[in-house]
Amino acid sequence: MEIASLMPAVAQVVRETGAFIRTERQRFQAAQVEYKAKNDLVSYVDRHAETLLQDAFAALIPGCGFINEETGIINPDSHYRWVIDPLDGTTNFIYNIPFYSISVGLMDGEEVVLGCVYEICHDELYTAVKGQGAFMNDQPIAVRQSPSLSESLIAFGSPHGWADHLVQLTAVIHHLMPNTRGMRRLGSAAIDLVYTAAGRFDAYFEANLNPWDVAGGSLIVQEAGGIVTDFHNGNNFVFGRAILAASPAIHPQLLAILQNPPAR
Ligand code: IPD
Ligand code: CA
Ligand code: CA
Repeated sequence: MEIASLMPAVAQVVRETGAFIRTERQRFQAAQVEYKAKNDLVSYVDRHAETLLQDAFAALIPGCGFINEETGIINPDSHYRWVIDPLDGTTNFIYNIPFYSISVGLMDGEEVVLGCVYEICHDELYTAVKGQGAFMNDQPIAVRQSPSLSESLIAFGSPHGWADHLVQLTAVIHHLMPNTRGMRRLGSAAIDLVYTAAGRFDAYFEANLNPWDVAGGSLIVQEAGGIVTDFHNGNNFVFGRAILAASPAIHPQLLAILQNPPAR
């Protein structure tokens, strides 16, 4: 299958679904929030957006599988599997903080071959096909050639189940805060990744994530010239629940800090 030929249709349905989310935000009420788990919020907007995406992608590749945030796994043995987060940054959406996105990846076996992340509030569509570069609204993007950690802006996440990682995360932040230009926590893993791809952040790291948070965005970072690994410098960042995406020059230093945070 010619993966690149799928992109116009993928981009169109992702933009249309983003328009739905934008419209719903205008009439959204606090009472429409539901809990999936403690501190893990969802609403009808996430669920309907996922249905729109899934229906369109199923028509694009008959018999394909899905790894969906809201409805789970469908056709797990299929060669092609879509990995969908219909609304990444749900808490931002609910609080009307304008940083939320749609994140889509397509896996060919175990490899992500297409990524599409739509930054809804700023109308930025980030796309990549394996081996063909990364784009934002059809313009090529590249990671920043960060000269050093001290001249870098670093994004991080503190996920819902962060208690297990709090000691490590606190130690890492304690070291990085005074030794970088600063740190940012936006609340959408997919946006953290594509902002790294576009050179707005020099790096992003987070633990305890799910495949739908990172599948699409990780390919976009790689195609923009960034290095993406798990916290062991391996490739298991889609399913491995930990990701470090960085400009090449600072990746080794950040990896060392994540593996062994300097003592206070
Ligand atoms: C969350 C966001 C957040 C990250 C959480 C994710 P959701 O996704 O990506 O930045 O810290 O771990 O679960 O729940 O808004 O789709
Ligand atoms: Ca998510
Ligand atoms: Ca979500």
